[in-house]
Amino acid sequence: MPGPGAPFALLAAAVLLAVALVLSGPGRPPPTQLPPSLLQELEQRRRDLSRLAAASSVQEGAFSTPDPPGRAAAADALGCADLNGITGVGLVGSGITKLVLRASLPPGGEEVALKSVHWAGGDVSRCVQRYGHPAGCHQLATYKLLKEMALLQRLHHPGIIKLRGQCYDSSLDPEMKVTTILELGTPLEMIQLLQTSWEERFKICLDLVQLLYYLANSPLGSCALLDFQPRQFVLVDGILKVTDLDDVSTEELSCRRDDDCTLEFPTRSFFLKCTTDGKCEGINEKRNLFNAYRYFFTYLLPHTAPFALQPILKDILNATGDLRYGANETLIAFQKVLHLYKSGFYLQKKRFHLKEYIALKGFYSADTEDYKCWLSYSNLGCVLSVHNAEEAAAICSSHPQCRHFIITPRRTWTGRPLALFQSNLTDLISGGNMVAYVKRSAASKESLYPEA
Ligand SMILES: Nc1ncnc2c1ncn2[C@@H]1O[C@H](COP(=O)(O)OP(=O)(O)O)[C@@H](O)[C@H]1O
Ligand SMILES: [Mg+2]
Repeated sequence: MPGPGAPFALLAAAVLLAVALVLSGPGRPPPTQLPPSLLQELEQRRRDLSRLAAASSVQEGAFSTPDPPGRAAAADALGCADLNGITGVGLVGSGITKLVLRASLPPGGEEVALKSVHWAGGDVSRCVQRYGHPAGCHQLATYKLLKEMALLQRLHHPGIIKLRGQCYDSSLDPEMKVTTILELGTPLEMIQLLQTSWEERFKICLDLVQLLYYLANSPLGSCALLDFQPRQFVLVDGILKVTDLDDVSTEELSCRRDDDCTLEFPTRSFFLKCTTDGKCEGINEKRNLFNAYRYFFTYLLPHTAPFALQPILKDILNATGDLRYGANETLIAFQKVLHLYKSGFYLQKKRFHLKEYIALKGFYSADTEDYKCWLSYSNLGCVLSVHNAEEAAAICSSHPQCRHFIITPRRTWTGRPLALFQSNLTDLISGGNMVAYVKRSAASKESLYPEA
């Protein structure tokens, strides 16, 4: 285990390395010293950034020039001074362009994520290998961070990571040393998600659809996430948020004819129309939707879904996989599923399992270990989300170990109660005002009123 100083040393090392690279390099070289193709790339990124600022000034009527790097997004934005004396610094993630650290801010210890250029990452290293020009390559990577920051200043949605502030070290080249301060999330783990309940997985998909609807109708126009992968997302308080925005396109692809508008994926191609104003119609929205389908919906939606919802989910999968639905239709379809799920429509009405249970008022359950079940909300035992006591009774009857259950006051994000299923009657304690439902067969064998 590294000591408490280790994470801070990591930050310091990253910062020192950045400083050393900037200082040891030729500084910001005059454009003539840059290899022509690197210069071209830099110009391209600079234009991209200016276009972004110009587009938002038209949309918002607020910006006439690109934001200076030090500009704060809001009055309460954090800055370099807030990073003095940070503690608990540790690595949370890294990609090919950026390095992300967690840190606690003084005095309250609020945790944030700090994003900066990953000097040893694939992007910078490949560029240095190709052009042999570290300073130019650092600048190129910094443009990506600046673009992401510019987008985060303008796009606001619960599905987009919140920019809390930025730190720009003016003692260095303005474009070389930038840190963005973001709300802290936890990187998305698909394997872990596959082991959670359908309700939780449906929530991730619904969060994503709401984000795609916003991106299709954003103040900057329809935006495509060009590098769309689960690792570009994090969870903050259970909400899915995109964090990597350096590869976002706010422009629809230009075209002269329909042939210019092929949207290609490894498994499928789509042939879109070229509009009279020379843009591939809806290409950004469609790209996002197909990526959502192939990276999220196919894995998260159908698996262990309530039986009665499966045909509707299959329709959604087919419609998004064939790009027959846009963001709007997809959102409507998801909202319909949510409504049906919350209303308990999926339950098989003809079963009456609850008759097999005796309801005992005024019991609660000891917090002890009991039998486990697949997709449980608790590591200690079997806790599942249910629509009502009837559904819980059906579940208990299908578990050979289950002898009683309690509908707890805990609620899932849809407002459904969590039920605790247990095998041991001695775990029931009298008190409180919850109801314990005990299997008649179990109650007849043992005392109905275990010791309190
Ligand atoms: N706000 C955040 N909170 C927690 N982890 C984050 C946050 N932002 C990014 N990460 C993690 O850091 C990784 C790298 O960040 P990202 O912006 O994707 O960099 P890159 O552009 O290099 O891919 C992400 O894959 C994610 O796991
Ligand atoms: Mg990334």
